[in-house]
Amino acid sequence: MHIVHTIAELRERLSPFKRPAFVPTMGNLHDGHIALVKQAKPLGDVTVSSIFVNRLQFAPNEDFDSYPRTLDADAERLEAAGCNVLFAPREKDLYPEPQTYKVHPSSDLSSILEGHFRPGFFIGVSTVVLKLFSCVYAGMPTGVAAFGKKDYQQVLVVRRMVQQFALPIDILAGETQRAEDGLALSSRNAYLNPVERLEAAQLAKALRALGESAKASSTPDLPALEAQAMQALARRGWKPDYLTVRRRDDLLPPQGPLAGQPLVVLGAAKLGNTRLIDNLEI
Ligand code: PAF
Repeated sequence: MHIVHTIAELRERLSPFKRPAFVPTMGNLHDGHIALVKQAKPLGDVTVSSIFVNRLQFAPNEDFDSYPRTLDADAERLEAAGCNVLFAPREKDLYPEPQTYKVHPSSDLSSILEGHFRPGFFIGVSTVVLKLFSCVYAGMPTGVAAFGKKDYQQVLVVRRMVQQFALPIDILAGETQRAEDGLALSSRNAYLNPVERLEAAQLAKALRALGESAKASSTPDLPALEAQAMQALARRGWKPDYLTVRRRDDLLPPQGPLAGQPLVVLGAAKLGNTRLIDNLEI
């Protein structure tokens, strides 16, 4: 595996190829990232991953400085998974000057749920993803990029950006990988202390329970069920931002009888100082 830091080095390495399979990450890789690399690999003629902790998607009060940076261990895991090129730009490589041109995704999708609790988050994500796409795919006839479904809303935002800018990139959404107790794998799980780690699996359980209670009636009172689900987590010491049942394609609340509607239950909640998100398609 070649490790490159600059855009010029990356493009040079990719120049013999026609269809990169790309997995963008912020590093501190877990089995979820590795599964994405393995899924994406057969869909392209070269496999690329990036590691870049993107300042633009962190609010000033968030964990940009403490976000775990584990480049050497990550490189080993990527190489073992069959990645051919690791793009690990320094900040000055990707943002040599302040990034004043930014992608503003449509507010219907980017200002709800995660976008509501993390204003500007999807501007930061879309901007860096478009820039990474331009680094990897410039001059390529096609490509494929893989994102994990744990960040469900992110996948939708990226898919829509690709569609609206007519980028010749197929987006692959990989299933969430879970620990044995059901906790969705996430780099931020590293922040949990042992007691919190045991409790953390309750978020996935709460989403499953909310999904079950929503499905139990054809016209459930969703706001009431969602409020009960949040109260139940709060009683266990969590600070929930949202637990909610939404339509899969636009993340709006479902209308009319639920039967036959593709839905997803999404949740975000703080446990101690760690904010976890998860979702479950129902
Ligand atoms: O999901 C992530 O790790 C990040 O949001 C991404 C897509 C790599 C952009 O920084």
